[in-house]
Amino acid sequence: MSKKLITFKNIPLSNSLLSSKQEDVELFDLTIGFDEKTKLVSLINNVSPEKLFPDDYVYDSSQSKTMVKHFKECAESLQKRFNPYSVLEIGSNSGIFIRHFNPDNTIAVEPCSNFAEITNDMEYKTYDDFWEKDLSELIRQEHGKMDVIFSANTISHIQGLDECLTSVKKCLNEDGVFVVECPSLLELLRENAFDQFYHEHQSYFSMIAFRNLLERNGLKLFDIELKPVHGGTYRFFICNENSSIDVNHKNIDKWEDEEKQFGVDSYEKLKDRMSIMKENMIDIKNTLEKIKSENKTVIGYGASAKFIQVSNMCNLNDSLIDYAIDTTPNKQNKFIPKSNIPIKKYDEDSLENVDYCFLGAWNFLSEIIEKEDKFLRSGGKFITHIPKLRIIEL
Ligand code: SAH
Ligand code: TYD
Repeated sequence: MSKKLITFKNIPLSNSLLSSKQEDVELFDLTIGFDEKTKLVSLINNVSPEKLFPDDYVYDSSQSKTMVKHFKECAESLQKRFNPYSVLEIGSNSGIFIRHFNPDNTIAVEPCSNFAEITNDMEYKTYDDFWEKDLSELIRQEHGKMDVIFSANTISHIQGLDECLTSVKKCLNEDGVFVVECPSLLELLRENAFDQFYHEHQSYFSMIAFRNLLERNGLKLFDIELKPVHGGTYRFFICNENSSIDVNHKNIDKWEDEEKQFGVDSYEKLKDRMSIMKENMIDIKNTLEKIKSENKTVIGYGASAKFIQVSNMCNLNDSLIDYAIDTTPNKQNKFIPKSNIPIKKYDEDSLENVDYCFLGAWNFLSEIIEKEDKFLRSGGKFITHIPKLRIIEL
């Protein structure tokens, strides 16, 4: 039974962009809870997966150079360390990771058919469905057990983690490796990244909680790394509980100590962090109101899911942020649900006559600053709200 940590009232789904301005969008409360038994922080009463991941899902990870590079390096390091023959990816999206493997022995699972179609066209057999028990049995019958099962930013989206993990175990070779990436709860809290809380993100994994879940499903964490993407991402290395793979106790103990010291396994300490986040939200709105009262142009840079959250959690609308720009074609000319902020196409001239860019894609700060050098040199300013509100200028 989860104990409630915080509720955000009347929040739209983070990737449900609108084709026109609308007043009556579907809204859902977003309640974050803590389970004393497993120490897992996760959503209580979430929306159905079919609603969250429709066949016209808009999030495409291949839009970011940082992520393209990240997954190339990730694929190379897994090839070098484990030299797998067969590979399965869960949540393959537009193929950003699997494209580095041989299509003859690499398969994928992706429920959003717009993306499953892309990777099927790239010759990777892609099962256009949600990862669950029946699908995992079908895959095992058709392809056998796998040397590597990889999943980035997806296991944390799945409701029903026990079924998810036992299904992984059944598809994993005796000495196979399950590699999972997902934003670290510790880093999320350190960065006050409250905009990472949204309906698609069912769980917010600490190492401690994820290890508890793995162990109760016959799996063993044998190593862990921290990567800088998405505000701080854990890469977990997992094997069967009886596998002969050596456990890297040094790395695991280090993260366990840090997490315990910060209090990610304590309900009271987590509650305190929620209060700090609430103060930041008030700060964001007040600062934007002040800037707009000086008649400045403020736009959103990157219509990320996080931007949709921050705009609605802080009650921002198109009187405070004129519009947002984004490079993703299927986000352009749409509107952010509830806050009704329009999204425009990014092009070379997008920042002309703009005074401030509010960073919706704050996790790509260095990539963006490098790209928008001209804007900064001509007096433009970025606003980031992570870890707390600050203005970036030359
Ligand atoms: N792996 C990519 C994409 C992450 S977005 C990356 O890290 O950048 C999450 C993806 O997981 C989406 O494409 C979504 O459709 C998919 N997904 C959501 N629930 C899933 C489930 N139950 N099984 C498999 N994939 C799922
Ligand atoms: P991202 O942080 O990847 O994910 P999420 O939606 O899960 O919060 O989203 C970043 C968004 O910003 C994505 O829509 C692409 C966009 N973007 C730009 O428009 N320009 C850029 O230079 C970068 C790096 C991202």
